[in-house]
Amino acid sequence: MLFKQLFDTKSSTYTYIVSSGKGREALIIDPVIDNTDEYISVLKNLDLKLVKVIDTHIHADHISGLNELSKRTKCSKIMGEQSSSEVIDIHVKDNEKIKIENIELISIYTPGHTDCSYSFLMNDRVFTGDTLLINGTGRTDFQGGNPYDAYNSLFKKLLKLPEKTLVYPAHDYSSKKYSTIENEKNNNPRLQVSSPEEYAEIMANLKLEDPKMMAIAISANKKGFTLD
Ligand SMILES: [Fe+2]
Repeated sequence: MLFKQLFDTKSSTYTYIVSSGKGREALIIDPVIDNTDEYISVLKNLDLKLVKVIDTHIHADHISGLNELSKRTKCSKIMGEQSSSEVIDIHVKDNEKIKIENIELISIYTPGHTDCSYSFLMNDRVFTGDTLLINGTGRTDFQGGNPYDAYNSLFKKLLKLPEKTLVYPAHDYSSKKYSTIENEKNNNPRLQVSSPEEYAEIMANLKLEDPKMMAIAISANKKGFTLD
């Protein structure tokens, strides 16, 4: 399997390129528009045919590369059915299969950070978007976020995956590349709570500033931004 984890330094976003091998079909998760040329060159160097691109949710901190990649490669754009993006080709529901050559992902509806947030399970690993971060979890104070939904997504869905499942989030701010469900269950400070109310209390007291690009990014990601 080909598995590339690319990092956007400006927004600390991780983007994933997945394929079963050189010369085969590929899929990209959570691309950042500024890095489109880099993705295209990785695809070219490995002779990959990009057929699908997924955004785990409507991002508020960067402009997605989903629409630009689709414009350049004709790949299909995928998000969850709750997404308010106007440019999506395939809307998935909870527990649907997304297939490319020799690879299958399963969608898991994990609202809470936003009401359109999905995670995607691929065999031994799960792409968690901003729902579950390494040593953290996504904020729940805008874009239809809800700490009780987030609690359910975390405790009733993601943490129920096998403990050895590798966790690949959409961001990390301290250079950690991946984790495991077991590690997050035992060590993530946000997950050491005993009730949804306790989780909601933590989330209500984070006092975070809005992301710098929020106004621009959300509207661009809903309309489907391209570079020209
Ligand atoms: Fe996010």
